[in-house]
Amino acid sequence: MFERDIRPARRAAKTIICSLLLVVCGASAAHAAADVEPIAAVVDRDVQVAAAQYRVLLAKVAGKPGFPRSVAHGDVRMVGPGDWTAGFFPGSLWYLFEATGDATWKTAAMRYTALTAPAKFDKTQHDLGFMLGAGYGNGLRLVDDPATRTAYRDALLAGATTLMTRFNPKVGSIQSWDLWPNTTWAFPVIIDNMMNLELLMWAARAADEPRYREVAIAHADTALKNHFRPDGSSFHLVDYDPKTGAVRARMTVQGYANGSAWARGQAWGLYGYTMMYRETHKDDYLQQAHRIARFYMNHPRLPADRIPFWDFDDPAIPAAPRDSSAAAIAASALLELASFSDRDTAARYRDFAEQTLRSLSSGAYLAQPGDNGGFLLKHATGHKPAGTEIDGPLNYADYYFLEALLRMKAARTGIGSFH
Ligand code: GLY
Repeated sequence: MFERDIRPARRAAKTIICSLLLVVCGASAAHAAADVEPIAAVVDRDVQVAAAQYRVLLAKVAGKPGFPRSVAHGDVRMVGPGDWTAGFFPGSLWYLFEATGDATWKTAAMRYTALTAPAKFDKTQHDLGFMLGAGYGNGLRLVDDPATRTAYRDALLAGATTLMTRFNPKVGSIQSWDLWPNTTWAFPVIIDNMMNLELLMWAARAADEPRYREVAIAHADTALKNHFRPDGSSFHLVDYDPKTGAVRARMTVQGYANGSAWARGQAWGLYGYTMMYRETHKDDYLQQAHRIARFYMNHPRLPADRIPFWDFDDPAIPAAPRDSSAAAIAASALLELASFSDRDTAARYRDFAEQTLRSLSSGAYLAQPGDNGGFLLKHATGHKPAGTEIDGPLNYADYYFLEALLRMKAARTGIGSFH
């Protein structure tokens, strides 16, 4: 979301290199066959569908307070600015502006971004990177007006400063959840929290204040040590003793079982360590991202269409629900990881991401305008153990799908905001 725009000269150079590679190496197997629609055409069509569908969604939620998150009981489920998903709707509007250049999306994006402002001072949760980054972060990347840029920068810096209050130096982590009554946890940290570090890495640069970066790196290092299993999969939650930093428990609250591989958790880790490598160039992070990619891509229970079941270890597979949100996050992450990989590995990651996006672009997953409550992707799973948002639309599935489409376009053409 905070990726810096590539300069025109770099863009031109990248376009030439991409063109040469295409000539020298030939097109990849996925689009070499004459009867396969070029992925660029798929992306362009998806953007048209997305624009039509989000016009429906915008009209549906006009006048309702808050942000559309999902569909419950046949109606759009709206949430307030304190919800961890609040930023994804404005974020998707920014991506639609980026994809189409249509200023209508910018107007809507600015309106909904402003509504996420209360998260700046919310000390009760760790998700401020999601809540502020998707709206303000993308907005900062895409607007030129100096007053708006200053306001967005200030909002992001305030959010980053708030997020720092949840860091415990003894543990070396940012606490994810507050302790609700009767909990057995003392200092819970979930793998999803890797995603919030992008806000801190941006803040370190924006404010020229290394402390944000130090905290982000400490958190990523601690998670690297404690969240992962030998096969590259991760536990969802690690609970720490806040006084000593010792690990008290490892579990998977949002997945099938403590020892299982919750699909979205794997996708958050893949995206998080790829992003942290981009920001730090620490090889440990790059190697972890590759390990997660191998686990995810080669999993024997990953379906042929590349859209994972919600948990790789649910014994109900193949009758278990899928999670298109995990697929979209993983596709977006792999497109970035490809840019840090040798040629063969990069080709494998891009082909996998392309196959994922082709599946998500098919009628099996992509809604027709007017269907699916106005959201783009069907078959996402939010919190199966809690019995909520199972096999339906989710605003973050749409957000990462749009991001992956933009990244795919940039990877294929060398043009775009993806560095
Ligand atoms: N961060 C919460 C989730 O992935 O559902």
